[in-house]
Parts: sequence; C-alpha cells; structure tokens
Amino acid sequence: METSNETVIPMPRIGDKAPAFKAVTTQGEIEFPKKYEGHWVILFSHPADFTPVCTSEFMTFATLEQKFEELDCKLVGLSIDGLYSHIAWLRTIKDKIDYKGMKDVEVKFPLIEDITMDVAKKYGMIQPGESATKAVRAVFFIDPKGIIRAVIYYPLSIGRNFDELHRVVQALKTADAFSVACPADWRPGDDVIVPTAGSCGVAKDRMDGKEQGVTCHDWFFCTKKIDKEKVLKAILK
Ligand code: BEZ
Repeated sequence: METSNETVIPMPRIGDKAPAFKAVTTQGEIEFPKKYEGHWVILFSHPADFTPVCTSEFMTFATLEQKFEELDCKLVGLSIDGLYSHIAWLRTIKDKIDYKGMKDVEVKFPLIEDITMDVAKKYGMIQPGESATKAVRAVFFIDPKGIIRAVIYYPLSIGRNFDELHRVVQALKTADAFSVACPADWRPGDDVIVPTAGSCGVAKDRMDGKEQGVTCHDWFFCTKKIDKEKVLKAILK
C-alpha cells in the first residue's frame, strides 16, 4: 500500500515475527531480535528524552529490571533521539533525579537511538494522529523464538503501569508452561483457565466434577488451581 512517496509498513501484530533491525544503543550495537534469541524481551518506545513522564518511566523500569531479569526477560528502549541525548538524559537521571524514593538510578538496559525513525516506523510506534515526530509509548513482548506475543500502546500523556507489564510476562510464560489461559487480573497462585473440553464426554465429566482439580462455572468456563510455587518454579529463571 502506498501513500504519496512513502511506503506504509503494516504494524507488527501479535503472532508475527518481530521485525529485524540493527541499531546503535547506549550499550553498543545490537542486532534485534537475534541478540535476544532464547530469552524474552520487551521492546518499548518513549516519546522523548528529557521529558517528565518518560523520566518517571525510565526510573521505574530501571528499578524493576532485576524483577524482569528473574523472568529471563530483557528490556530494550527506543526513542527518536540521538545517542548523545540518550547518554546525557540517563546521566541526568542518575546524578540529579530523586523521585518517589528512587535516586541514583542507573539505566543499564540498552536505549536505541532512532533519529531516522526507521525502527519506530517498522514497529508502528509513530502514530501520526498522536504525534508525527515522537513515538507513542509502545510495548512489544517478544518470546524466545522472536515472536510478538503481546502489544500494548499508551498515548504520550500517560505513563505505563510497570506492574502490569511484569504481570503480562508472568502470564505469558505461565500460559505456555501449563497450556492454560489466565483470567482477568490473574496473578501467580490464582486459578487458571483450562482449555475447553474437546468432546462432550469430557465436558460432561468436568461439569459433573469428575475431572480432579477442575471446577466448571459452565461447560465453556473451567478453572483449576496451580500452586504459586509451581508457577514460579516454571517461570522464574
Ligand atoms: C513526557 O514524557 O512527559 C511527555 C513526552 C512527550 C509529550 C508529552 C509528555
């Protein structure tokens, strides 16, 4: 599809292979997603360096990095700023910002410079109705095989909920490890949803309470408990 001179790149969606790129970051050059093969990775964008919401987000993400690392999930940031802006901003955060009990915060994960917007465009991070020159707050959850498994977008004006980003990684890993789904507001230790029975006989047995550990609210909605320890053992590194 073409508009004027510019080729419109379709936004990557859940289930797509993460678009590949090479980039310069605050931690050296990276080849994405190749460098992260075998690990989970969150690729996220922020609108601009030296802006307040983004600063609060970076301080929060950097403070939580260890919790993501425990899930074997790496973090990679991006904005349409140059490397020297990134370096100066991250230094300012470390040296000067004291916010909500967070201070002396060192951002150790890579922050991609993308002045050309090549990567941001590939990932649908430029949403012109919001801004033609700044990336929205996009979050791509990419699995160890390089497949996009979840995407969340926030506008420029709203900082992300990092507890939710952490919960999404926990839930994706749990769904994979136990072949289940995770219901609303799920947390490790909460009941999970078992796949719908493949036959009437199994569905009836479940409804009759004959499948051990499975509780059915109706034929299409059955849950079971998985102990929190068992979940954590499966999803933590
Ligand atoms: C901020 O991070 O504070 C911000 C960035 C771009 C537009 C609006 C707010």
